[in-house]
Amino acid sequence: MSEPLKRVLVTGGAGYIGSHVIFALQETRRYKVISVDNHHNSSPKAIERVAQIARDNLPANATAQDKDSAEIDAYTVDLTQRDQVRKVFEKYGKGGIWGVIHIAAYKAVGESTEIPLTYYENNVAATVYLLQVMSEFDCTRIVYSSSATVYGTPPIIPIPETTRLQAHSPYGKTKVMCETIVSDLCSAEPQRFRGLSLRYFNPAGAHPSGLIGEAPIGRPGNLFPLLAAIAVGREPNDLKVFGNDYPTPDGTCVRDYLHVLDLAKGHLLALDALAPESKAFDDCPTEARYKAYNLGRGKGMSVLQIVEAMRKATGFDYKYEIVGRRRGDVPDLTADPALAEKQLGFKAEQDLETMCKDLWNWQTKNPKGYDSN
Ligand SMILES: NC(=O)c1ccc[n+]([C@@H]2O[C@H](COP(=O)([O-])OP(=O)(O)OC[C@H]3O[C@@H](n4cnc5c(N)ncnc54)[C@H](O)[C@@H]3O)[C@@H](O)[C@H]2O)c1
Repeated sequence: MSEPLKRVLVTGGAGYIGSHVIFALQETRRYKVISVDNHHNSSPKAIERVAQIARDNLPANATAQDKDSAEIDAYTVDLTQRDQVRKVFEKYGKGGIWGVIHIAAYKAVGESTEIPLTYYENNVAATVYLLQVMSEFDCTRIVYSSSATVYGTPPIIPIPETTRLQAHSPYGKTKVMCETIVSDLCSAEPQRFRGLSLRYFNPAGAHPSGLIGEAPIGRPGNLFPLLAAIAVGREPNDLKVFGNDYPTPDGTCVRDYLHVLDLAKGHLLALDALAPESKAFDDCPTEARYKAYNLGRGKGMSVLQIVEAMRKATGFDYKYEIVGRRRGDVPDLTADPALAEKQLGFKAEQDLETMCKDLWNWQTKNPKGYDSN
């Protein structure tokens, strides 16, 4: 008899990373996924699609429990509304939810400088509410979606986790604040709470089925989805490259891209590290069971290298113009991924070519995102 499914609540489950994390959870057939999302930046169809992948992947001899693991309990909930969050937890009762993967947030750096209060409310206040409700319902394991942006302009490349946190933008500061809040809670209640912050570098690509992928609402803010949207004809062929005089090999900014499915698998390892039998926190300097890990490949890629890789994958002739540096851009954000590899067993193996191929597969099958057909 296999163990019963563990209920894991994923916030932002319909988003780009959330949907791939749900895929990874369901693939194990060990979890029952509860997704909450207000669809501010996502389509509910993502949830239907990811469940479809799980159903299609069920073995012929699937048990009733396996079939249950392929279905998602999805709720339209705004995390800034504590009562809405509480209603979801009430359905499962005290101790009914094993852990939370908190992914939902607003994430546009530029926008966060224009409407900081909205970012602090949506990212920070909502995290406080979520943790309060979790505590009320004895749900004390959390994986938090952080970002490389917490390092600001890092003094050492590749960046180790011990680097001081010094985000530049309100968005980045919300990530530092939420990490701090989770860490403080784990310090205050070391016998109850366990937390891990995962500092994502730059996720790219999509599930190879082409059923789920990144579908930003409006003009894509990130390089990869923008290049895909240009190649498919949804955005004009007028890429602007912000600065070619950075201290990097070709002068353009360098980022550490990893396949979104590798990133998603990092969440499974993080959940295992939160389990009671895990030894992941044995080396913590204090009683608190809290840690932060970089999730990256440790390989920096420049803007021009990405444009070239996408040209190869799509066959599209990108026109770009070099313009001045953009305020707030950091020259190089490349992870030192050694700690996550050593302690979690995390390794982002898929290469740039696969990221481009899978992104292009998703984009051509869904030229207008989830509303293409
Ligand atoms: N994509 C990246 O490059 C990247 C890099 C580093 C960190 N991150 C972090 O990863 C997380 C997910 O990013 P993503 O790229 O999947 O973004 P996304 O916008 O695709 O997903 C976020 C999801 O959260 C939902 N959401 C936002 N506010 C909510 C609220 N108040 N209540 C309920 N749902 C809400 C959105 O509707 C969306 O579905 C974010 O926390 C982001 O800061 C992303």
